[in-house]
Amino acid sequence: MKSVLSGMRPTGKLHFGHLHGVLKNWLKLQESYSCYFFAADWHALTTEYEDTSNIKGDIREMFIDWLSVGIDPAKSVIFVQSQIKEHAELFLLFSMITPLSWLERNPTYKEQLQEIKNKDLSTFGFLGYPVLQAADILIYKASYVPVGIDQVPHVELTREIARRFNFIFKKGVFPEPEALLTDTPKLLGVDGRKMSKSYNNAINLSDKPEVIEKKILTMMTDPHRIKRTDPGDPELCPLFLFHRVYSSEEERQEITKECKGALIGCVDCKRRLLAKMREEIDAYWDKRKYYEAHPDVLDEIIKNGNELARKKAKETMQEVLEVVKL
Ligand code: TRP
Ligand code: SF4
Repeated sequence: MKSVLSGMRPTGKLHFGHLHGVLKNWLKLQESYSCYFFAADWHALTTEYEDTSNIKGDIREMFIDWLSVGIDPAKSVIFVQSQIKEHAELFLLFSMITPLSWLERNPTYKEQLQEIKNKDLSTFGFLGYPVLQAADILIYKASYVPVGIDQVPHVELTREIARRFNFIFKKGVFPEPEALLTDTPKLLGVDGRKMSKSYNNAINLSDKPEVIEKKILTMMTDPHRIKRTDPGDPELCPLFLFHRVYSSEEERQEITKECKGALIGCVDCKRRLLAKMREEIDAYWDKRKYYEAHPDVLDEIIKNGNELARKKAKETMQEVLEVVKL
């Protein structure tokens, strides 16, 4: 069976943008592939090295977010990057064969150096970020890597590193992985801007169902609808994006007609949406409560995932050390 691998830096609560942009994709993939999903805590350190106090807690919270929506440890290997030391070993070997120029021209690197001004990112680790990512991917010989568009250069670099390694050591050890592009964000935040932790406009996966309800009910809609009798346009309404995800084509056509004719109010429209979301968010909440009440179960899932990942990583490293002749 072909394998899929993806990682996320543990940097705080996941929201409905992550759910519909990333996690729903993972849920589908775990039905057909051997999937590896991990917390990229070393990668988090490349920018957060000055304050590492929350990292363990953030990993657990992130895993609970994943599990609550249905990432299934019986189907997917869930693990922690820093617990599989072989990633670091392969990273080191890759660092020997990766030309500096490949890293310096990486667009994601250049962009982040420009954008992130409150941290000193002129470090060796930050420049080498994609080399570590290549090790994460290649150590499992993953065929597919579901990522957002910003990560495509990293997967491209991974392919180049795989090719160079195979060429130098004259063995086809590594397959060249393919990026599976995650869709552009489907949802906006409650204020109509991009959903983001830093804008404080996110609906979090860990929000209580009542809180989700409240956020939806106060969410921004088409700004032209000031009074109930003002006609609106779903195309201009951030809330309607949720209907695109949760309602059927038929229901959307009905809403569109009623919105344009001022036949329903936004609160009615939101209540219809909530009725659609209810079952899903209640199920998420139940799962979350279970894992929160049973930290030992989570410990066990992580321990098992780490063991499965380590086994595969060790196999690959053995092969690598043989061809490198160490
Ligand atoms: N760099 C990725 C991100 O910021 C996280 C990541 C680390 C990753 N290693 C990976 C993603 C390997 C896919 C495969 O989103
Ligand atoms: Fe948006 Fe629905 Fe209000 Fe129309 S009726 S503006 S689609 S919330």
